Amino acid sequence: MPAQSAEVVRLEKLSKHYVEGGQLRPILDAADATFCTGELVAIRGRSGTGKSTLLNLIAGIDEPDSGRIFVDGQCVTDLSQRRRTEFRRDHIGFVFQFFNLIPTLTVYENVALPAELAGGAHARAVTTRALQLLDEVGLAARRDSFPDKLSGGEQQRVAIARALVCDPRLVLADEPTGNLDEANSKLVMDLLDRVTRRDGRSLLIVTHSRRVAALADRVFNITHGHLEPDAG
Ligand SMILES: Nc1ncnc2c1ncn2[C@@H]1O[C@H](COP(=O)(O)OP(=O)(O)O)[C@@H](O)[C@H]1O
Ligand SMILES: [Mg+2]
Repeated sequence: MPAQSAEVVRLEKLSKHYVEGGQLRPILDAADATFCTGELVAIRGRSGTGKSTLLNLIAGIDEPDSGRIFVDGQCVTDLSQRRRTEFRRDHIGFVFQFFNLIPTLTVYENVALPAELAGGAHARAVTTRALQLLDEVGLAARRDSFPDKLSGGEQQRVAIARALVCDPRLVLADEPTGNLDEANSKLVMDLLDRVTRRDGRSLLIVTHSRRVAALADRVFNITHGHLEPDAG
């Protein structure tokens, strides 16, 4: 981690448990970590180890039992649910394994939606910004298509454009290539890498893929509730 890098995410003693069969099951157990501006961090771990839970906590979609999460210097765990939602919209882009595009909206409308919901400067700039992003992900010609007319790889590229429309400092991606073939995985990863790090954004990516992890500046594992640097 370069010493001069500003931190974009800090986790302090982050804990989360679920109740399973009447028993408390620790998912995260006092996890500490810091991720820096411009960094690509990969998080690996077996299925069910808490990777999606961690991303949802950082995004403020889920709440920890204890501990604190700072994003861009803001302690998101101190915010009300409403303020957390607003903060997420302005600071965080989210890319999902199954794309989560809205099937009744066109490609352009899907990308534009978060900016329109945000209102203000984002909404005023939405047409230019959405078209610029669609161009960047190579899908400007498909702007009026509906998601079901696109391949999985194309849908994920639309989802990446959507995640960037409010110009977030942090992009969280939960197994973004998990549902794609090898050629499309490579396209999507190259794109994610380019549109995040190039613009000084940070990318936190959950992945099973060794190839994806190999692109990362740092790799962490979640094992038994602990977030630890990958031993290789
Ligand atoms: N809302 C929930 N209630 C109870 N258990 C949950 C809930 N969400 C996730 N879990 C459990 O927490 C564990 C971690 O889930 P998850 O973060 O989705 O893992 P991963 O993304 O690493 O596969 C799993 O065992 C899962 O069944
Ligand atoms: Mg998961």
